[in-house]
Amino acid sequence: MSSQADARRITAPQIQARKGGEPIVSLTSYHAHTARLLDRHVDVILVGDSLGMVMHGMETTVPVTVEMMIVHGRAVVRGTKRALIVVDLPFGSYEASHTEAFHTAARVLKETGAGAVKLEGGRRMAETVRFLVDRGVPVMGHVGLTPQAINTLGSFKARGRDDAEASIILDDARAIAEAGAFAIVLEAIAEPLARRITQEVAPPTIGIGGSPACDGQILVLEDMLGLGDRVPKFVKKYANLGPDIEKAVASYADEVRARTFPAAEHTYAPRLVEKPAKAS
Ligand code: KIV
Repeated sequence: MSSQADARRITAPQIQARKGGEPIVSLTSYHAHTARLLDRHVDVILVGDSLGMVMHGMETTVPVTVEMMIVHGRAVVRGTKRALIVVDLPFGSYEASHTEAFHTAARVLKETGAGAVKLEGGRRMAETVRFLVDRGVPVMGHVGLTPQAINTLGSFKARGRDDAEASIILDDARAIAEAGAFAIVLEAIAEPLARRITQEVAPPTIGIGGSPACDGQILVLEDMLGLGDRVPKFVKKYANLGPDIEKAVASYADEVRARTFPAAEHTYAPRLVEKPAKAS
C-alpha cells in the first residue's frame, strides 16, 4: 500500500475541513531530504512544477514533464509520513480533455503515492476538476497568477488589481470551488480580492502572495530559505542559506587546496589484525 494510506497521513478531506479554522501550513519540496525536514511542521507539501525553475534552471514551468513530476513526487512521498503530498500536473498534460487529465492524474497518484494533484486554471478547467473529483482524484485548484500561462500572460506580475480582472478571478475561484476542489491556491492577487474569495468559496484558500486573509499559506521552500535568485514581493526570507552555502564551499575548497582536509579524524587507519600465537 502507498504510504498515503498510512493512518497518520493528513488527507485531502481533512484539509478541506479546515476552512476558517486553524491556518493550513504548506511549503513546496522536491526531494526526500527536505521533505523529511518539513514533514513534522507542515500540513501540506506541494511538489510544485516550480521545480523546473528552482531545481532544473528552466526559464518557466512550461517545459516541465509528467516524468519529472513523478520522479520528484515519489522522492517526497518516500521522505514523509505525515503531510498530505500534492503533486502539480504540468503544462500540456491535462488541458486537452477530461480523459487526458484523468490519465495523467491517475498515473501521478499511482506512481508517486501522493494524495492529491493540483492544476492551474479557473472556469476553463472547472468541468475537468469535476470529472477528476467524481472519479476519485482529489484536486487542488490554482487561480490568480497561473505561471503555466506565462506565454499568454506575458509576465509574472500580480493579478486582480483592477475591478475587471478581479471579477474574472473571483468567477474562476467560484467555478473551481463548485466543481469540487478540496482547496484553492490564490497566487499573487490583491488583498481585497483574496479576502472576498476566501469569504465566498467553500474550500479553504491557500495564499502565495494572497494576503493574510487566506485560510492557509504556501511558499516555495528555496525562496523562504534564501536560495532563490528571483524573490517575489510576497516572499519572506526566514533564512539566508545562499551565502552560508557559498561560505562553506569556499572553506572546503581552501582546505582541499591547502591539504588540511581531510584531517586525521576523517581518515581510516588500517585494521589491526592479531597474529595467531606460534605453536611451540
Ligand atoms: O509550482 C509551485 O511551486 C506552485 C506554488 C507556487 C503554489 O504552484
